[in-house]
Amino acid sequence: MNNRYTHKCFVVLVSALLSVLVFSGCRGQKSTKPPIHLVLNMDNQEKFRAFGENTFYPDGRAMRPLIPGTVPRGHLNLNEAYYNGIIDSVFVNNPVKITPAIMTHGQDRFAIYCTVCHGALGDGNSIMKQKGFTPSPSYTDPRILGMKDGQIFDVITRGVRTMPAMSSQVPVADRWAIVAYVRALQKSGNASLQDVPPDKQGQLK
Ligand code: HEC
Repeated sequence: MNNRYTHKCFVVLVSALLSVLVFSGCRGQKSTKPPIHLVLNMDNQEKFRAFGENTFYPDGRAMRPLIPGTVPRGHLNLNEAYYNGIIDSVFVNNPVKITPAIMTHGQDRFAIYCTVCHGALGDGNSIMKQKGFTPSPSYTDPRILGMKDGQIFDVITRGVRTMPAMSSQVPVADRWAIVAYVRALQKSGNASLQDVPPDKQGQLK
């Protein structure tokens, strides 16, 4: 055997041994010691955790209470009429300008969120009534006819008696569009022949 061959053999043997060591060290072995953390960056720093104790403050809490009046970004909602439907205990009129697009949107949202209990005409004849759920009143009930827009908005937002609150499903803009559509349902539900344009009246007879 010449010298070069021995050298080559030695290199192959050492690298085979090394790789066995390396792989057997990483695979499937449990250790109670913390993993080796070569590059520390700034991973381990002294800090206080949320809900932890911090004796620096008189109340002993690490978390600082919010300054009174703090509002999450994007939730200032200063427009009371728009966001609450009520100002100083008085329900407002629909603050949204009613356009054909708003009405179509309201119809669309009504079909998704309200029809199941109130019926497509808002008269209370719904699938939920058929299934035995508490019947909902007709929107042409004089009491509901007399409601301000803001009160209907409030009913959608907070619910009333047996009707659930829907603010988590229906965004504010959609609620106002629905209110506009409920008004249209009340008009059409209570309409007489005189409400139909003269040139269209013939089609109804
Ligand atoms: C899960 C069924 C259900 C859904 C969904 C529902 N309602 Fe109602 N709603 C009711 C019931 C039941 C009542 C009657 C509540 C009562 O008087 O106990 C009611 C009552 C109402 C009233 C009259 C409130 C009053 O003071 O008498 C309005 C207005 C109304 N709903 C609008 C809506 C609108 C708009 C939607 C869709 C955004 C909607 N509801 C979705 C079940 C529902």
